[in-house]
Parts: sequence; C-alpha cells; structure tokens
Amino acid sequence: MDKFRIKGGKVLRGTVAISGAKNSALPVMAAALLTAEKVTLHNIPKVRDLITMSKLLAFMDAKVSVTEMPASDYVIEALKLNHVEAPYELVKTMRASVLTLGPLMARVGMARVSLPGGCAIGARPVDLHLKALEQMGAEIETSHGYIEARVPKGRLKGAHIVFEKITVTGTENILMAAVLAEGETVLENAAREPEVTDLVEMLGKMGAEISGHGTSTLRIRGVDQLHGTEHSVIPDRIEAGTFLVAGAITGGELMITHCEPEHLGAVIAKLGQAGVPIEIVNKTTMRVQGAKRLVGADVTTEEYPGFATDMQAQYMALATQAEGTSVISETIFENRYLHASEMIRMGANISVDGRKGVVRGPAQLSGTTVQASDLRASAGLVLAGLVASGETTIERVYHIDRGYEGIVEKLRGVGADIERVHGAAS
Ligand code: EPZ
Repeated sequence: MDKFRIKGGKVLRGTVAISGAKNSALPVMAAALLTAEKVTLHNIPKVRDLITMSKLLAFMDAKVSVTEMPASDYVIEALKLNHVEAPYELVKTMRASVLTLGPLMARVGMARVSLPGGCAIGARPVDLHLKALEQMGAEIETSHGYIEARVPKGRLKGAHIVFEKITVTGTENILMAAVLAEGETVLENAAREPEVTDLVEMLGKMGAEISGHGTSTLRIRGVDQLHGTEHSVIPDRIEAGTFLVAGAITGGELMITHCEPEHLGAVIAKLGQAGVPIEIVNKTTMRVQGAKRLVGADVTTEEYPGFATDMQAQYMALATQAEGTSVISETIFENRYLHASEMIRMGANISVDGRKGVVRGPAQLSGTTVQASDLRASAGLVLAGLVASGETTIERVYHIDRGYEGIVEKLRGVGADIERVHGAAS
C-alpha cells in the first residue's frame, strides 16, 4: 500500500490548476447509460473512482473508449446493456455505483445493484432512493445483499416525490430515472449542489425536459428517448477548497486556476472570518494568502449552499493553527471525525463529542505516522502534515487517490516537500 511522506514547514507559492469534479463526473458517466448514442465527456479527473465507474459501465456492456488511462476524456456508447447489474466487487470499492440504479430502471426497466454498505463516515443508507423509485412504480426487493428492482409496467411513471432528507446522489438517481418516465415528476427538497446542476445541464443537452435547476424543486417531464451529447464537467470545488486551506495554512500565496469561486461561497466566507485573505481574481481564478493572524471561527456543515461536509476535515486542520477556539458541528454524517484522533496524535488540541469537534489553537503539530480513513480525512491529514515539524507519514493513501488528481505532483509544484512511497499492492 502506498504512503505519503511529508516534510512540513514549507511555504507554498505558485499556481495550481483544479481538475474536474469527481462528484460530477460520477453521475454524468452513469447518465450515459440513458441513451444508445455516443456520449463524450471531458474534464473527468484522473482518479480511481472514475476508473471504477468505467469498469462498471463496461461490465454492463457499454463501450467505454479512452485515449489514455487514467483518462480525462471518455466516450461512452451504451448501445445495448446486457448485464444490468452492479456487482458487489465494484460497489464495495465505490458506493457511488448505486448511481447506475436510476438510469438502468429508466432505460431497461430492471436492475440488480449490490447494496452499498456503511462506510467509515456513517451508515449511509439508500432508503430514500428506493422509496422514490417505488413511488414511480418500481418493485424493489432487497435480498442476499442486492437491490433487485424492476418496473412491472415496463416504464416508470412520473410521481410527486418529497425527499425526507436532502440527498445528493438520491436526487441524481431519481432525476436520471425520471427523464425517461411517463409524465411529470416533481422532486421537492432536492439537493442543490453544483454537481446536481451539472447533471441537469448534461441531461438537458441529451434532450431531457427539466426545470428548476439550482433550486430545491425540480420538475421533470419524461421524454421517450434521449440522444447522445458532449459535456465537460465542472471544476472540483472541494479540491479548490483544499488548496485554499493549503495556501492559508502554510503562510504562502497560491493562485488557484480553472475553478469556480462561485461554488465556494460558504468556504470563502468562513476562511475570511478566520483571517485568510482570498481574492476572487476572475470567474475561474482565486488568490489565497497566508493569514497575518489566523483566528478560530465556528463552523457548521450543511447542504449546499452551506459549508460542505467534504471540507470539514481540511477546515479542522486549519483550525489547529488558529488562535482561540473553533467549534465544528458536523450535521451531515454521524462519524466524520476520524481524522481528529490522528491530528491529536500530531499534537492538536481537539475534543470530539458526538457531532461536535472543539479545536483549541494554535498548536505546534509534530510529524508522525498517521492513518488515512476516508477521502477527505486524508486531505485533512496532508494539510496537517504540511505545517507539522519534521516528517509525517500518511498510510492508506488509496483513500486520497479515489478523489484527488495528482495531489502529490500539484503540491510539489508549489513547493511542498511531499513524496509518494510505493508499497506492495494491497
Ligand atoms: C454525496 O454523497 C457525495 N458523494 C459525498 O462526497 C458528500 O459528502 C455527500 O454527498 C454530502 O454532500 C457523491 O456525490 C458521489 P447524501 P451521498 O445522500 O449522496 C442520509 C466525498 O468525499 N441519507 O447527500 O451519498 C445520509 O446517510 C463524498 O467525495 C439517508 O438517510 O450523500 C447522510 O446522512 C463522501 N438515506 C445524508 O442523508 C438515503 O437514502 C446526506 O447524504 C440517502 C442519504
């Protein structure tokens, strides 16, 4: 298993280009199952989850062509889907495989998808996805660890769905189910994340009729069929946010390009409150500088447009360096503080009580060996390693490889002393 070795204390300076958003690329790749025609996708980040998604589509007999591997351009042609199944072997490595359920139900009227289990950050059920599909006329059984779903009438029917809780992939799955359903579907309390809006945009290019994008009520008028299209996914707002913290925490200056500052409103505001100077240079570029004085600021994670749970671990790393107390409230996932115990081992003053994390700073962190437990926790540990004295070794970095394209190369490019140490295959 690969590790990262970081020698802390380097000031980061230079320019970093942000890659495409993993959490946009996953649903738009799944959406290619909705048509027999060719779908060309650009700006797909070169990360492990997208390779897993391409394997899953290929397993279903979609033709996935790439010019390089890992690829940033994919051409997907789902002429005929012979295996409407997402097997356990793939789902266990990537929960987002469940995003194929909606498109399969819409296009073929049946699907067998392994139930994604819990993961390190929480139980993460998919009950709301299934309930909504049932409202649309699907018959669903779960047995032997699989969701077995079929549409007895051949075609899903539009329905009025009110999500009990805001769910990002749930909204995406049901959007993809509804675009080919008979009649109108109304989704209330839908997720408003930019990744959902990106999917709506791509589906629109394929001929879907959707209104209300960017709001919590989406109206979808089902059409008989969709056609091929070409689409470029939006920049990864979480990667951009992670580099904002990297610039701020090391006292450097980073120009962050190919991003959409507009998608980072809550993060930019919170970092500003903590004393981090951020300048929006233009629609796709931001400049961040190290704070003259970093001060603690409380934060509560929320659905978009609130402060993203996917930025919580990175913010915690920053808070360890801020003067005073920062109270972090995690409202989305029940167990998303696994990085805290590792930061404490590095010398941070953090106490966690349920969904609350209290960070008292500033603390001089010192390098040691720590374990990455999930994607964003790993990013938080990398940031902590950048300011720790001495050497930090981060184990199990396969988590970070799932979602950050070339993080070692990008950080080295702006002056970080970080290297990947290759280990035996796990
Ligand atoms: C998406 O996960 C993202 N993944 C996550 O990013 C992100 O953390 C999360 O949204 C929240 O923003 C992808 O887009 C692929 P949810 P998702 O359904 O859709 C509960 C990362 O690091 N819930 O919005 O799985 C759920 O347990 C990842 O890139 C139900 O109870 O999250 C959670 O508490 C991690 N029943 C809350 O809702 C359901 O049927 C929000 O989850 C569905 C969700």
